[in-house]
Amino acid sequence: MSAIESVLVENRVFPPSEATIKAARISGMPAYEALCKEAERDFEGFWARLARENLQWTRPFTKTLDESNAPFYKWFEDGELNASANCLDRHIGTPVENKTAIVFESDDGQVSRVTYKELLARVGQFANALKAQGIRKGDRVIIYMPMGVEGVVAMQACARIGATHSVVFGGFSAKSIHERVIDAGAVAVVTANYQLRGGKEMGLKAIVDEALAMGGCDSVKTVFVYMRTPTACNMVAGRDKTFDEVLKGQPTECKPEPVGAEHPLFILYTSGSTGKPKGVQHSTGGYLLWSKLTMDWTFDLKPQDLFWCTADIGWITGHSYVAYGPLAAGATQLIFEGIPTYPHSGRFWQMIEKHKVSIFYTAPTAIRSLIKAAETDAKVHPKNWDLTSLRILGTVGEPINPEAWMWYYRNVGGERCPIVDTFWQTETGGHVITPLPGATPLVPGSCTLPLPGIMAAIVDEAGHDIPNGSGGMLVIKRPWPSMIRTIWGDPERFRKSYFPEEMGGRIYLAGDGAVRDAKTGYFRITGRIDDVLNVSGHRLGTMEIESALVSKTDLVAEAAVVGRPDDLTGEAVCAFVVLKRPRPTGEEAKKIANELRNWVAKEIGPIAKPKDIRFGENLPKTRSGKIMRRLLRSIAKGEKITQDVTTLENPAILDQLSETN
Ligand code: PRX
Repeated sequence: MSAIESVLVENRVFPPSEATIKAARISGMPAYEALCKEAERDFEGFWARLARENLQWTRPFTKTLDESNAPFYKWFEDGELNASANCLDRHIGTPVENKTAIVFESDDGQVSRVTYKELLARVGQFANALKAQGIRKGDRVIIYMPMGVEGVVAMQACARIGATHSVVFGGFSAKSIHERVIDAGAVAVVTANYQLRGGKEMGLKAIVDEALAMGGCDSVKTVFVYMRTPTACNMVAGRDKTFDEVLKGQPTECKPEPVGAEHPLFILYTSGSTGKPKGVQHSTGGYLLWSKLTMDWTFDLKPQDLFWCTADIGWITGHSYVAYGPLAAGATQLIFEGIPTYPHSGRFWQMIEKHKVSIFYTAPTAIRSLIKAAETDAKVHPKNWDLTSLRILGTVGEPINPEAWMWYYRNVGGERCPIVDTFWQTETGGHVITPLPGATPLVPGSCTLPLPGIMAAIVDEAGHDIPNGSGGMLVIKRPWPSMIRTIWGDPERFRKSYFPEEMGGRIYLAGDGAVRDAKTGYFRITGRIDDVLNVSGHRLGTMEIESALVSKTDLVAEAAVVGRPDDLTGEAVCAFVVLKRPRPTGEEAKKIANELRNWVAKEIGPIAKPKDIRFGENLPKTRSGKIMRRLLRSIAKGEKITQDVTTLENPAILDQLSETN
C-alpha cells in the first residue's frame, strides 16, 4: 500500500452490507441507537432487564445498582447465582448439551473435542477434587496453566465452589507467582508439569516450586499438577498431587454453590503506573452478564458459529472470551495450545481453514507479525488457505494501525468480514467501546462507539467535557455491571487510581488518551497517559521494570524505563541505566545489557525484557531531582532534543544515553 493511501484510509468508511445488517442480532444503527436510548431513559431498568434475560439466578435480585458508597458500586447485590452453572448447567436439557463446547488443537496439531455435557462432568469432578483438598467458598486459588481444556476446567471448578481464582500467565516468572500468592493469600496452586509451545517443552511446575520456596507461602496447602507430558517433575510429598490422584474416585456431579452477585469471581493482576501489579477484583453477576452479553452484541454470536479467541487464559481477554463468555453463550470455541509461528507462520490461517472458524479474535501485534512473515515468505500468506468460513474479525489489546487493519480486512476477511476493534481493559471486564458488526460503519484504526449503557466521554484534568476533534482523557461517567470492584486488599489504591478526586471521585478514569472524530463522534484511542507501556498488547508498568533492574544490586545504581514506538510490538521497552561501575562501552556494554535483559526476564517474565538498554554516567534530572522522563522518551525515539536542558548537571550524558547496545 502506498504511503498516500495509508494516510487516506483513516477517512474511509466500511458500512456493513445489507445482508449482514439483516442477519445481525443488533440490526443496523437504529437498533443500536434504540438500545442506547433505552439505557439513557431508564439506566437501572435497562441493566435489570438484561441481567434477567441473560443469566440464571438462583435468587432473583431486587435492587439493580447501589451507588451509596461510590466508587464502590454494587450491582444486583441481593441476587444469587453461580458462574459455572450459568456456563454449563444452563445448557443441559437444551440442544446445546451435546454440542461441542471446546475444540482443542495442541501445539503439535492433535485435535480433541469436548461437549457441554462432558465439560460439565469434568468441571464437576475437579470441583469435587478441590473440595476434597479442603478448598472452600471464598478461598483463593492460583492457576498457572498452559492453554488447554484443563485450564478452563480449573477456572470453572473454582467458580463452581465459590473459590476465587487468580490466573497467572504461563510466561510470568517465579517472583511474579510469589508476589501474587502472597497478595491473594492463596491456599492452592493449580499448574502443569510442563507446557508445550513451539515444539518445546517448558517447565511450569519447576517455576511454581521456585516461587513457593521464596518464603511466606505457608498458606498454600496443595499444588495440583496436570501431567501435560509424560516427563516427570519434582513432587513435594504431602503438598503436590497429580490430577489423576485427586480426581480418582471423585464423582462427576457437584452441586454449584450459589454466591452473591458481588462475590469475587476472580482476581487478575495487572500493571499500574506505580508499585506492584494490582489485583483487579471482578464480581460474579455483573462480570458474567457482560461476557455473555458482549458475545451476542460484539460478536453477533449464532448457534452455528465456530468462535476463536487466540488470547491466553492468563489475560483478561482469555477470561472473558475463552473461559466464561463463549460458554455462557453456548458457543463452540477453538482453544489453541501453541504459537502462531509454529511450525510456520501460516498456522493461524491453516487452523481457520481446518476448523472452519467463523469468528476470529486476535491482537494487532499478531497481525503485524504475520503480515511481516507473509511479506517475506509467500508460502505463509493467508491466500494459501480457504478462509471463506470467516464472517467476523476482531482485534484487542492495542491500537491497530490503519495499514494493518486494511491488510487484515483484505487478506483475512476477504473484504467481506466486519472487523470489531474492541477497546477495553482488565478493569472493564469486557468490551466497552467497539463497533457492532451488523450496525456500525467501520473506520480503520477507530474503536468507533461505546456499547449501549457505557457513558464514555473525553474530558480534561478537571473532568470537563472536551469538544469532539480535540484530544483528552477517556472516562466512563456512569458505572457499568462488569467494572472492577476494587483492588484486592487495597481499596484506597482503587479509589486513587481510577476515581480521581479532581473529577469528583465517581467517574472512572481509564488511563488512556482518546479523541472523538469531529463529525462522527467516533473514538480513537491514542495510548496510555500514565506510566504504563503496551508491548505486543501486554501491559507493563515502567516502575515494575525499573524495580526489577535496580534489584540487581551488585550492578545497577539507578534505572529509568520509558516506552518508544515500535513497528512490530506497538511499543518497546527502553531502559536507561546507571551502573555501580564505570560506564561500559562496546562489547562490555552489550554483555551487561544482555545480562540485565535476562535478569528482567527472570524477575518479571520474558515479555518485560527491555529492547534497548542504554548506559549513562547519570540520568537527566530536574533541579528537584525528578527524572526527566519526557526527555528520555524523546531520546528513546531518536528525536531532536527541544526541551530545556540547561538545568542538567552534565549535558554530555544526553549523547551517552543515545547510544544503544
Ligand atoms: O491502552 C489500552 C489498550 O490496552 C490497555 C488495557 O490493557 P489490558 O488491561 O492488558 O487489557 C487488554 C485487553 C483488553 C488499554 O488501557 N487497548 C486495549 N484495547 C485497545 C487498546 N488500545 C487501543 N485500541 C484497542 N482496541
